[in-house]
Amino acid sequence: MSSGLKKRETFSSGIAVFFATLGSAVGLGNIWKFPYLTGVFGGGAFLLVYVLCVIFVGIPVMLAEFFIGRNTRSNVIGAFKKLAPGTMWKHVGTMGVGAAYLIMFFYSCVAGWVYYYLFKSLRGDFVGITTESAKTQFAQTVIGPLTPIIWQIIVMVVVGAILIMGVQKGIERVTKTLMPVLFLLIVICDIRALTLPNAFEGVRFLFNVDFSKLSAVAILTALGLAFFKLSLGMGTMVTYGSYFTKGNNLFRTAASVAFSDTLVSVLAGLAIFPAVFAFGMKPGAGPGLLFMTIPLVFSKMPFGNQLLVAFFFLSSIAATTAMLSLVEVLVAYHTEEFNISRRTASIVNSLIIVVIGSTAALSVDPSSLLGSIKFMGKGFFDWYDYISSNILLPVGGFFIAIFVGYIMKQKAVLDELSNSSPKLAVATKIYLFILKTITPVLLIIIFLNSIGVINFK
Ligand code: TRP
Repeated sequence: MSSGLKKRETFSSGIAVFFATLGSAVGLGNIWKFPYLTGVFGGGAFLLVYVLCVIFVGIPVMLAEFFIGRNTRSNVIGAFKKLAPGTMWKHVGTMGVGAAYLIMFFYSCVAGWVYYYLFKSLRGDFVGITTESAKTQFAQTVIGPLTPIIWQIIVMVVVGAILIMGVQKGIERVTKTLMPVLFLLIVICDIRALTLPNAFEGVRFLFNVDFSKLSAVAILTALGLAFFKLSLGMGTMVTYGSYFTKGNNLFRTAASVAFSDTLVSVLAGLAIFPAVFAFGMKPGAGPGLLFMTIPLVFSKMPFGNQLLVAFFFLSSIAATTAMLSLVEVLVAYHTEEFNISRRTASIVNSLIIVVIGSTAALSVDPSSLLGSIKFMGKGFFDWYDYISSNILLPVGGFFIAIFVGYIMKQKAVLDELSNSSPKLAVATKIYLFILKTITPVLLIIIFLNSIGVINFK
C-alpha cells in the first residue's frame, strides 16, 4: 500500500527534471555501443535511421511512461495498480522491477571496471603501455577475482549513498552538478582528438553516409539501441516522471533529453574514432574499445594521461547517473509498497545487487568456476543482459504503448500530456496516433527478431 502520510518528493524545477532524466539516458551505452554501431552500420545513414527510431518509438514510449508516472505519482507497480486496479496490468510493473535488477547485475560490474580504470589512470598505470600490456591490464581488471568485486561494491556504495540522500538532495543535486561536468570533459576530449593528424579518417568512419550497409539488421539494431539509450520499457521514466513538476512540458523534456543524449553519443564518437584512426588502430566494440584501445591510443598523445583521467571520469559519471535511475525504480517500489524507509530500501537493494551481481563479475573469466557454467552457450553476465535487453525491455515497451494508447481514457492522456493547454493538443494527438500504430508494430518486430523467431540477414 502506498503511504499517504509522507509527502512525496518531486524534483524542484524544470532544469532539475531535464538533468535527472538526461542522467538516466546518458550511460555506458553512449560510450561503448553507440559510436561503434554507428561506424559499422553505415555512419551517417545509421544515424539517420537512429534518429527516426528515436522519433517514432523512443519519444512516444517516453511520453507514455511520463504520463503513467506523473498522473499517478507512484512507483512503477503502484502506478499500474492505480490506473487499472485489480487487473494483470500491474505485471508490466513487475517485469520492470525484474528488468531493473537484471540490468543492474551486469551494469554495476562494468561500472566497477570503469571506476577502477579511473583509479588506474589517476595512478598513472597507462603511461607508456603497449598492446600487450593493455591486454594484461584489462585481464587483471576483469579476472580478479577480488578486484572486480571490490570495485562493484564501491560502485554500489556510491549509488546507494546518493539514493539514501533522496530525490532532491541526492539524484537532483548529483545530476545537476555532474552532467555539465560530463559535457565539458567530453568537449575537451573532442578538441584533442580532432586536432590530431589524420583525425579526419575517424570522422569519416562515423559520418560517411553509406546506405549499402543499412541492412534490416542495422535498422533493428538502431531500434534496440534507441530503446536502451533512452532507458525505456521498464519504468525508469515512469518513476522519474512521478517526480516531475506539475507544469513541466513533457514534450519539451522528452525532445530535449532525446536530442542531448544523441549529441553526447556523437561527441563520444568524435572523441574516440579520430584518435583510434590517428594511431592506425582498428575500431572495435564493447570492452575491447573502452578498456584496451582507448588507454592505448590516448596514452600516445601529448597530455594523454590527463585525457584518460578526463575520459574515465566522464564515463564514471555517465554510468553512475544511469544507475541512479535504475535503482531508484527499486527504491521507490519498496518504500511505497512495503512502507520501509528510503534508507533501508537503498541499502537492501544495493546489497542484493552486489551479491547477485557478483555472479556476473565472476562469470567473465572462462577458467573460473562461475565462468564455466553456461546455459545454452551463455554465462551469467550474458543471460542478465539478454533477458533484460532482448526480452523484458521490448515486451515492456510494447505493453506500455498499448496501455496508454488503448486502455487509458484518451482524454486523461491528452490532458496530462498537454498540461490541458490547447497549444499542445495537436502535438499530443499526433503522438497518440504514432503510439497506437507505428510504435507497437516496430516493437513486436524487434522482439521477434531478438528472440530469433524472425531472422533478418
Ligand atoms: N540509458 C542508459 C545507457 O545508455 C542505461 C539505462 C539506464 C537503462 N536506465 C535504463 C537502459 C533503463 C534500459 C532501461 O547506458
